[in-house]
Parts: sequence; structure tokens; C-alpha cells
Amino acid sequence: MLNTIRSTGQALAAVLCLAAAGTTPAAADSASTCDVNAGLRVWRQCASCHTNKPDVQDKSGPNLHGVVGRKAGTVAYKKGFSAAMRAANLVWTPATLDRFLADPAKTVPGTYMVFVGVPDAAERAALICYLSNGVTR
Ligand code: HEC
Repeated sequence: MLNTIRSTGQALAAVLCLAAAGTTPAAADSASTCDVNAGLRVWRQCASCHTNKPDVQDKSGPNLHGVVGRKAGTVAYKKGFSAAMRAANLVWTPATLDRFLADPAKTVPGTYMVFVGVPDAAERAALICYLSNGVTR
């Protein structure tokens, strides 16, 4: 019974992933002291499930455009957030993102984000830099 329910969404997610993989990085944006380009390399681990482009349909995970400063579990998201994320009562700041991305399942037990995390602190810092700068590549 479960088999019949799950396939359409997954096929769509796969197509969206392929589309995202085709986008080409443009020249460096914004003058910032943190390393957006290093962050972009780490972001590739996220991009199979997330987009950070504004006004495009979310993938299997929610759209992360403008995530810094946003309350967890509040953006429009067609699949719907887990009860855990909705109840997490977190605002996404560099500090809370760092904690979540180090170990998603430990920080928000019951999250639907099935991802092991980014264990390297420098990689997380670069990734959070990337997410904070509104870069969409
Ligand atoms: C396997 C797919 C997958 C991968 C890979 C993934 N995520 Fe997620 N992410 C999700 C899903 C699904 C959710 C929704 C979680 C929930 O509702 O509990 C989510 C939620 C989030 C949220 C909370 C968003 C909000 O508005 O509250 C953040 C932040 C986030 N992910 C960041 C990342 C980053 C950064 C990476 C890369 C290091 C990443 N994710 C990798 C699937 C994924």
C-alpha cells in the first residue's frame, strides 16, 4: 500500500535535483569577510534536497532562501514540516544553524531531515557564510 503512495513525489524530486545540478556558478558576489566560495562547495551536499533560490518550488526539503533570521518550520513548504521542527522553537541564526548542521537528529530529535550533518566546524562556518549572503548559486 505504501508503495503506491510514495513514487510521484520522489520522481519529481529527482527531476528537480537534475535541474539544479545543471546551474553554473557565476562570478563571486558580495564583498564579505567569510568564504562564500568554500561554502558553496559544502552547499552541494544540501542542494539535492534544498534550493536557496527565491520564488522557486521547494525540493524534498524546504526552500532555504533567507533562512538566516527565520523561525524554524515556518516557511511555506509543500511537504510540510515535522512536528519536531514546528515545535523546535528555534530562530535560525549562525549559532543555531551551526548546532543543527553539526548533528540534525540530535539538535531536533524527530526531524524529517535525514542527513548525517557536517562534522567539520570550518566547513559549517563557510556554509553558514554562504547561506547568510543571499547567494543563489
Ligand atoms: C536528504 C535530504 C536533505 C539534505 C541532504 C539536507 N536537508 Fe535540510 N532539510 C531536509 C528536510 C526534509 C527538512 C525538513 C525537516 C523537518 O521538517 O523536520 C530540512 C530542514 C532544514 C532546515 C530547517 C529549515 C526551516 O525553514 O526551518 C535547515 C536550516 C536545513 N534543512 C539546512 C540544510 C543544510 C544547510 C544542508 C546541507 C548541509 C541540508 N539541510 C541537507 C532535507 C535535507
